Amino acid sequence: MLKKKSGYVVAILGATGAVGKETLEILEEREFPLAALRLFASKRSAGEMLFCQGKEWKVEELTPEVSFAGVDIAFISATDNISREYGQRLGAAGVVVIDDSGVFRMEVDVPLVVPEVNAHALRTMPRGIVSIPNCTTTPLVMALKPLQEAVGVKRVVVTTFQSVSGTGAAAMDELMNQTKDLLAFRDAKAEVYPYQIAFNLLPHIGSFNNDGDCSEEVKIAKETRKILEAPMLRVTATTVRVPVLRCHSEAINVELERPLKPNEARAALAGMPGVIVYDDPSKKLYPMPLDATGKDDVYVGRIREDESITNGLNLWVVSDNLRKGAALNAVQIAEHLTQG
Ligand code: A2P
Repeated sequence: MLKKKSGYVVAILGATGAVGKETLEILEEREFPLAALRLFASKRSAGEMLFCQGKEWKVEELTPEVSFAGVDIAFISATDNISREYGQRLGAAGVVVIDDSGVFRMEVDVPLVVPEVNAHALRTMPRGIVSIPNCTTTPLVMALKPLQEAVGVKRVVVTTFQSVSGTGAAAMDELMNQTKDLLAFRDAKAEVYPYQIAFNLLPHIGSFNNDGDCSEEVKIAKETRKILEAPMLRVTATTVRVPVLRCHSEAINVELERPLKPNEARAALAGMPGVIVYDDPSKKLYPMPLDATGKDDVYVGRIREDESITNGLNLWVVSDNLRKGAALNAVQIAEHLTQG
């Protein structure tokens, strides 16, 4: 997709946000071949200096007048409107756009990619845009893919426990500030979420539709079917925001097509690149957000039979939503497109 070069000019739209900053760290850690970086954010961040690969780079204000001439790859993680406006424009101008929003994910001519699961979808990018999935879909499909390959998956029931960093940097501040205020016997101000998130949880992520589903729940079902290329797969989700700073957890119940013992499921999952099985109840070993923070892998534990249905399996999955759920997945896509 991209011509081989010794270094690429990379733009990050939303560079000062929770995902943007993680993208910078990952480009550095993985020694992504950079010729130059262009960092963009809102007016309030213009002039800020951010560090990557031994250099400081100045944040520019994103305005319609900005020229993107010479940019090879653009990572977009800002707002839906920015994705809509700049994703289209940059893709049409020959820039490879790797977009973190929900704006393009379900469009038939935009691949939706988790490289370990469906890197082949990157071969067709007619609009120059590739979407990365919602930060809960990615770990879900990473866990489902080896089960699908082993015995087939019929139905999935997933409940998510999503950290506040999924909403962005302002939500992380809100959780910290509410916690400090409440411990000091002051009132907690809720600005990002409709209710207090500290010492609470909200069974509500995104907006509600007329059937009472949250947009996040609808996204999980649709995106999972697209990535696994399983249009008939039955998926139902309940998405919950929890007072955790980083990492999303998921309780997943799977109805398989054919029998698979928990030990066989463990072996299938252990063979999946990017997945670590962390599962030993006798030693109280199971994945937790604090352990998965800052890690690249998707952790799976609590693997056990669900005896209430035929071929039922329960799993508990935890992954860092800012890394594999967003920035890491995006950089891995860029690596695929540059390495061929
Ligand atoms: P800024 O930090 O200047 O507000 P998060 O998801 O953590 O909230 O981050 C959102 C990112 O998108 C930030 O980098 C933010 O910049 C950027 N952003 C939000 N609104 C705009 C805008 N209207 N123009 C450019 N960048 C924006």
